[in-house]
Amino acid sequence: MPGSPVHNRPPGPADDLDLAGIRADPLDFLTALAADYGDLCSHRTRGEAVWFVNRPDLVRHILKDNYTAWTKAGTPDDFMLTPLLGKGLLTSDGPAWERQRRLCAPAFRGRQVEEFDTLMTDAAEDLAATWEKAAAEGRMVRVDHDFTALTLRIVADALLGADLAAAGPGFGRAVDDINRFIGHFDGEPAQPGADDPEFARSGRAYAAARSFLARVVGVLVAARRFTGPPVDRPADLLDRMLASRDAHGDALTDRELHDQVLTMVMAGHETTAKALSWTVHVLDRHPEHAAAVRAELATVLGGRVPRAADLPRLDLTRRCLEEAIRLYPPVWLISRRAATADVLDGYDVPAGTLVCISPWTLHRHPAVWDAPEEFRPERFTAAARQARPGHAYVPFGGGPRVCIGQSFATTEAVLVLATVLQRLELRGVAGHAVVPEALVTLRPRDGLLMTPHVLAGGVGR
Ligand code: HEM
Repeated sequence: MPGSPVHNRPPGPADDLDLAGIRADPLDFLTALAADYGDLCSHRTRGEAVWFVNRPDLVRHILKDNYTAWTKAGTPDDFMLTPLLGKGLLTSDGPAWERQRRLCAPAFRGRQVEEFDTLMTDAAEDLAATWEKAAAEGRMVRVDHDFTALTLRIVADALLGADLAAAGPGFGRAVDDINRFIGHFDGEPAQPGADDPEFARSGRAYAAARSFLARVVGVLVAARRFTGPPVDRPADLLDRMLASRDAHGDALTDRELHDQVLTMVMAGHETTAKALSWTVHVLDRHPEHAAAVRAELATVLGGRVPRAADLPRLDLTRRCLEEAIRLYPPVWLISRRAATADVLDGYDVPAGTLVCISPWTLHRHPAVWDAPEEFRPERFTAAARQARPGHAYVPFGGGPRVCIGQSFATTEAVLVLATVLQRLELRGVAGHAVVPEALVTLRPRDGLLMTPHVLAGGVGR
């Protein structure tokens, strides 16, 4: 916000920094900022002071203890996502957010989510079969693309059930067009490159995709309200959200349901796809852990398809996922604005201040993590977790606005990994560098190209 006070702001570079410079490598920028100026620091860009918080207790203060003093309104996420998603759970605030969270939460509880296990493993089996075919033909696969298609299918099936088939392949294409545009767009009118023809083309595709999705979702919600839940299959998330009532007996309105469905589709697939991609990438770099995961899968499953009931025994598989998203958190930046004045570590925070938290830097904090760059799944045993300060590990955020899809994503990712890694080994391609790039999500900059190899009797390299 131009004109915010400069006095009493945490240490940081004195000059106003060029946003394009920060965007060129935000991970490096934030890492250097915290290293040079400490766990509570700040910088100025476009005349506004932006605070950066990199200490678990301060993160907890903002996300949990004093969360009502902090809003999403006016944050980069708000600019980028509200035009697309409206005011669903991800982008709303205050009483509107509270009401939606209360109504949606029951549909996302662990037990409810576990009922989707077969739907998740069916999709994973199809993907494994495609990769086995590629292996037989000696072809490489774009793991990140394939995981995105997989997670979109899973979240759309779980949310909307069979109805989505009526929208045909258009649904997946529309989501692709949106992801492509949003990845390079920050919602600000004077964005550099706005006159670039490719940007304009991608913008038109985005607008068409947005209106297509809005219409499809509108029809699906209206049809379900009219006909009630189908009798020939278990309830999906839309049925559950339609049935939920708040304390006054009120249901979600059509507008709220529409925004909610789009929010869940968009928030619920790209992130999980990145979590899966980074996990297979780190396992490829750490063959000893990959072999231990295969041994766990052989012992627990012995070649059969996993079910939700197996999850407690797929402990190492889950820890590898958790450690992979410590190193490569799909959501690498969380931001809030101070709705009212607050105090952070003795500094007065004026109302309106923009504050950023980065899971990328927090998950590498040397005071919390030994050898932070090393992949060590043992960091996620029950004892190791207990020994860590709360809010040191925040891949799903924290406090009351913690990711509502956390159980869904974890169940899905572990079941997908268990299904696929029993059948295949995915190996990196020589000469194809895998470099993290921080766009909307943290993704491999040049994609994740790998060669699949069919495992004979569960034996890898
Ligand atoms: C590995 C996968 C995922 C990651 C890393 C992730 C990460 C996050 C993070 C960090 C937040 C908090 C953002 C903030 O505080 O500003 C969040 C919120 C949210 N996520 Fe996820 N997410 C994942 C999967 C999902 C799935 C599968 C769904 C839905 C099916 C989902 C739906 C949402 C929604 C609706 C919110 C907003 C919650 C609220 O504000 O009440 N996410 N997610």
